[in-house]
Amino acid sequence: MYIVVTGAAGFIGSHLTEALLADGHEVVAVDSFTDYYDPALKEENAAAFDCSRLDLAEDDLALDGFDGVDGVFHLAGQPGVRSFGDVFEEYVRRNLLASRRVFEAAAAAGVRVVFASSSSIYGEAEAYPTSEDAEPRPISPYGITKLGCEQLAYAYAQGFGLDVVALRYFTFYGPRQRPDMALARIVDALAREVSFELYGDGLQSRSFTYVADGIEATIAAMQRGASGAVYNVGGGEEATMRDVIATLERVSGRSLDLVEGPAAAGDVRRTSADATRIERDLGWRATTSLDDGLQAQWDWASARVAAP
Ligand code: UGA
Repeated sequence: MYIVVTGAAGFIGSHLTEALLADGHEVVAVDSFTDYYDPALKEENAAAFDCSRLDLAEDDLALDGFDGVDGVFHLAGQPGVRSFGDVFEEYVRRNLLASRRVFEAAAAAGVRVVFASSSSIYGEAEAYPTSEDAEPRPISPYGITKLGCEQLAYAYAQGFGLDVVALRYFTFYGPRQRPDMALARIVDALAREVSFELYGDGLQSRSFTYVADGIEATIAAMQRGASGAVYNVGGGEEATMRDVIATLERVSGRSLDLVEGPAAAGDVRRTSADATRIERDLGWRATTSLDDGLQAQWDWASARVAAP
């Protein structure tokens, strides 16, 4: 296949691009290298492939210039649930405004889009495990823009025949995880022997999803997802922050210098993916145990810190 990946230099986008290339696909990788976190890390993520600089909120994703494109994985966006305040403008621009342009270009070119949405659209969900039919009620500005993108995709599907599949990612982790995310900060704190600030009581839990599992689901959605469908990508092991800290202490053989801080606005208490639909339609289910995934993330992070 001839594939476009947006957000290709990010944590998930770079793993996806490498997996597609390894499977023999041709990939056009684009990223705007924003400074939400150190762009040097994104350069490092994308070191193994060519990645063009493109700001999707302004620059055209010239799909008619990519003759024979089979699909777009639209992963570019402004991430992070702790998103209140003036930064909201960045969320609107990099999620809603950019996605509108991607959806329009893809609809015009008749190209399928797999869109990376988020479990944060559920907010404090009405039931656990949470199915795709649960009422969305996000509690972060980020979640609101991701839900807005899903709705925009739906409108382009209705109005212009956009072929789109939306994936609600549940807290992906593993090597290259974004440096603002909890597990990345914990392994970094253990490796460098600095402190980690825990927001709240640490009993909040997540349906953690190992990135390689998530990539398999993402590719399966492009190949066999039902047009217009929404799928949860999660349902591996649910764990509290206290649980994952204990596991990482065991895996690293070190003890974490924990600083307790207040809970953060925008953070949900719990996520738990009901993966029935994705298993039924795509035959996908998370297979990496939390122990193995955390070991892989620790190995990666500690090797980077140890490297000269
Ligand atoms: C993550 C991503 O950041 C979102 O981009 C993604 O859309 C979302 O998953 C998702 O599943 O949809 P989150 O689950 O909040 O969001 O992941 P983390 O940033 O790793 O936070 C996990 C927990 O650790 C939260 O309760 C947070 O309060 C806590 N945390 C985070 C800390 O205690 N300290 C930190 O320094 C960072």
